[in-house]
Amino acid sequence: MRIDILTILPSLLTSPFSDSILKRAIENGVAEVHVHDIRKFSNNKQKKVDDYMYGGGAGMVMTCQPIADCIESLTSERKYDEVIFMTPDGEQLKQTKVNQLSCAKNIIILCGHYKGIDERIRELYVTSEISIGDYVLSGGELAAAVLSDAIIRVIPGAMSNETSALTDSFQDNLLSPPVYTRPEEFNGKSVPKVLLSGDFNAIDKWREDKAIERTKSRRPDLEH
Ligand code: 6GU
Repeated sequence: MRIDILTILPSLLTSPFSDSILKRAIENGVAEVHVHDIRKFSNNKQKKVDDYMYGGGAGMVMTCQPIADCIESLTSERKYDEVIFMTPDGEQLKQTKVNQLSCAKNIIILCGHYKGIDERIRELYVTSEISIGDYVLSGGELAAAVLSDAIIRVIPGAMSNETSALTDSFQDNLLSPPVYTRPEEFNGKSVPKVLLSGDFNAIDKWREDKAIERTKSRRPDLEH
């Protein structure tokens, strides 16, 4: 899968892809991430990418031209399944959408800034608008990194243990059960006996019960 991220702050999007699972997935060819600096596409002498809001108001708005040219340079090269705009007024990201996007071949992720982007970019190019939660970030970059991470890790081959993405919290609308590692006792607290029993049916049952219990108490809104 290929992800093209469009931003005016490309340096915010280097480190998320240079470690751990994402780094390995990219090295193994499971995913390609290309970060594009919108400013490079500006026809303005000063490479401006924003302007005052029509009608007045505080804050600048990202202009159409550099964004449109950047998107069109990409769409002239290949077909994209989605052009996603990261925005706090978008649809709140859920695992279902992540799984659906992980089946795409090519996607564009556009990061907003300032007071937003000219509405005509949304009308002309954007196919999905995504928010990562009900709070406001300084820009869409960190949200784009969150979305890309969530997508790439579920692509088959991204993780060494392929089953592990399937047993994540939310894949079945259940939170994950508690986990333990050595030592058997720490500061007076012991690992639940069943996990040491070697009885794998009992262990599976315990994990399922704990997952359900945890979901009921912490996330009663999740349906399963
Ligand atoms: Cl996608 N962008 C910004 N700027 N803030 C957000 C967000 C996105 N999702 C939640 N807050």
